[in-house]
Amino acid sequence: MTENKRILVTSALPYANGPIHLGHLAGAYLPADVFVRFQRLRGEDVVYVCGSDEHGAAIVIKALKDGTTPQAIVDRYHEMAEKDFAAFGMSFDHYGRTSSPTHRETAREWFRTIAEDFVLKTERQLYDPEAKLFLADRFVIGTCPNCQHPDAYGDQCEKCGSALSPAELIDPRSTVSDATPELREVSHWYLPMGAHQARLEEWIATKTHWKSNVLGQIKSWFTLGLGDRAMTRDLPWGVPVPEDVAQAAGVDPEGKVLYVWFDAPIGYVSASREWAEAQGDPDRWKTYWQSEDTRLLHFIGKDNIVFHTLSFPLMMMLHGDRGAKYVLPENVPANEFLNFEGKKLSTSRGWAVWLGEALEAFPADYLRYALLRALPETKDSDFTWADFQAHVNNELADNLGNFINRTVAFCVKYLDGTVPAIEERDDVTALFAAASEHAAALTLALDECRMRDAINELMSISRAGNKFFNDAEPWRTRRDDLAHCHTTIAACLQLCASLSIYIDPFLPFTAQRLRAILRLEGVRDSRPGGEGELGWAEAGGRLLSPGHALGEPEILVRKVEDAEVTAQRELMEKRAAEAAAAASGGAPYTPVKDDIVYDDFAKLDLRVGKVLVAERVKKSKKLIRCEVDLGFERRQILAGVAEHMSAEDLQGATVVVVANLAPRKMMGMESQGMLLMAEDREGKLVRLEAPSEPGSTVS
Ligand code: MF3
Ligand code: ZN
Repeated sequence: MTENKRILVTSALPYANGPIHLGHLAGAYLPADVFVRFQRLRGEDVVYVCGSDEHGAAIVIKALKDGTTPQAIVDRYHEMAEKDFAAFGMSFDHYGRTSSPTHRETAREWFRTIAEDFVLKTERQLYDPEAKLFLADRFVIGTCPNCQHPDAYGDQCEKCGSALSPAELIDPRSTVSDATPELREVSHWYLPMGAHQARLEEWIATKTHWKSNVLGQIKSWFTLGLGDRAMTRDLPWGVPVPEDVAQAAGVDPEGKVLYVWFDAPIGYVSASREWAEAQGDPDRWKTYWQSEDTRLLHFIGKDNIVFHTLSFPLMMMLHGDRGAKYVLPENVPANEFLNFEGKKLSTSRGWAVWLGEALEAFPADYLRYALLRALPETKDSDFTWADFQAHVNNELADNLGNFINRTVAFCVKYLDGTVPAIEERDDVTALFAAASEHAAALTLALDECRMRDAINELMSISRAGNKFFNDAEPWRTRRDDLAHCHTTIAACLQLCASLSIYIDPFLPFTAQRLRAILRLEGVRDSRPGGEGELGWAEAGGRLLSPGHALGEPEILVRKVEDAEVTAQRELMEKRAAEAAAAASGGAPYTPVKDDIVYDDFAKLDLRVGKVLVAERVKKSKKLIRCEVDLGFERRQILAGVAEHMSAEDLQGATVVVVANLAPRKMMGMESQGMLLMAEDREGKLVRLEAPSEPGSTVS
């Protein structure tokens, strides 16, 4: 454990182009919040910043697709994220946004400071002539050159995690329009990561304590060799490239902005500046960022690893070479991905659990608990509503909640709601010894960000409490050994009080309610600026003295009903079905033609025919030659359907024929009529069945 350092914690800035979902929380947010609350309870000097990532191609695309402006998009989702995070109990010291003036200024200062380290290159880039946009980043998808994933983005492959440039994609496609991208010349500033690979490798070599999933990815990039990464873009939205830098390089700054992955991590710094300003001490952020005495931790999801372990650290190193030195991360505890009900999360396919909706159905702490249980710490994990219900009911309610309820209820019912006296007893000593052992393991796990281990240790404490309660049988000793009964309940109440602190980082709302039930005062609030003399270190001590009066008992954790989780599952299925319908509903229906009168229709002579012979016409992609029996005669009809069905599909079929269509020549052959087909919105043809005798009229 590293003592007496300031702690600076960041969670990846979520893109402000969609609502927060449980996948976000499991990756970068909930573990960070647990860690931060724990450190605050320990009395550590912590600053925890986050904010909305409001730039980047994805937001521009969304605005284009929704027919609105990027500003309107980010305003909407920034506000929503802030609200949802607060309701979930996220305890940021500051939640900023990258469209803020402080951020713009900070990001431009960084760019200016390290401008000389960039390489200015004029290259040909993909341009969408229809949308009038350069197809950087997420504007272009194509096949990943490293893993062959067919839908890799222009800046990153989400399958293998490697950073990419649009020009590296195989078979690039525009995501904005159907236009085929063309190549145009543009100048951009590149971060020559390859030139600094040795320096980065040397630094990473000191990080033997990092998670193996993180180190594994970094190693594979080193093996591939780091390349130059463009730090600017041609986009109508973002932090403008500093004009002085552009002019000095002889580049027109018009329309050039900083690459979102250049500006976004600087968002951590600008959020800290805004925090310091709000504290009335504008330079205070420097004592965290520009000091060697800081433990900097970046909590992220695995798709962010390259940016937090290589490019942003390199930016900090280069900034330090030319200006103020920044502290490099002590750890980057990246999590893997959370799946839902066995399927990969996909917001576009409607497969996600939105935080705002989940919070309407369940208390935040239930969601926090179940998510912590399912945290993808070392590998992808699965969130199911059945597991959610089981975790809440069997563990939170039956273990933790039950221990607290039975203890408090007993005290209120039989002991007047007053904390009784405690006497020395072997089983009590053993209980407290077991609790303090679990608490020590809990503390270590929390400090090392092993949240699943931590929650296991936590639940072991209340499990020990339940066992102690059962074995000591206070309901029996109440009648024949009152002193024994008193000691039992006093010990259990003591453990409840300890738990009200130990559960706090995980279940902050429940912790507060428990302290209200116990009327336990003086415990430090784990939110920013929390005060109180009782913290993590005091949790194992005597917190309730004999004679202390408890508050009103209440059920701490209720059970989740089957119907509630069924409703959630159905909601997800419905959402996915809607998304699928919307996706396939892209093609419009053919409009209905102008009215005709009956006589127009009566001019058509429609007949049932039986296809006696069907064969592909050589050298024609489309035509199938049919010989059709119309009862009264046999006709040759050429059908342009070979792209939709085989000759075998037609052979023997009874079909509807336009019998009085004037004969036409195709590929040197005469077609004496026409077969009717149904054509769906995607243009797919299906033959019509007419199970009647050849020659029958159709009207
Ligand atoms: N918006 C990015 C994402 O959701 C994360 C940005 S993290 C930061 O993947 F460091 F750049 F801020
Ligand atoms: Zn890939």
